[in-house]
Amino acid sequence: MTFHISIVHGPNLNWLGKRETAIYGTQTWEAIFAGLQAWGKKNEVALSWFQSNHEGVLIDYLQKVDSEVDGVLINPGAYSHTSIALRDCVASLDLPVIEIHLSKLQKREAFRHHSYIAEVAQATIAGFGPKGYMLGLELLKR
Ligand code: DQA
Repeated sequence: MTFHISIVHGPNLNWLGKRETAIYGTQTWEAIFAGLQAWGKKNEVALSWFQSNHEGVLIDYLQKVDSEVDGVLINPGAYSHTSIALRDCVASLDLPVIEIHLSKLQKREAFRHHSYIAEVAQATIAGFGPKGYMLGLELLKR
């Protein structure tokens, strides 16, 4: 049976490859996702992804996929540090959720040190760049 994982991206992650490349790298999300999809094909994992710059739209999406997929990787972007609404949504999902950050939050500004999502996700992977998504997929698959 195919396992289905959705990757959810918060604000500004549509600008990967363009935004603050010294921190987030030069690869676009489309290029990163192509690599993840190749892994998915080999491992019988169907992948989909969704990005929004809007808090409520992310919540609507997560509520919708709660009954449609087997697991979620989420990089909530800056909402990690601000959104109690997104935290409450993740806490109510019937799915395993792994939080991903490209950068290592603890090495950055103090306002990035706390994540509301980390409190309710199964695990947080941060600081591995795009490889973090692959690690998250492998964890969910296992
Ligand atoms: C980020 C870290 C956040 O603090 C930031 O607001 C982002 C990206 C990361 O992937 O490292 O948008 O989630």
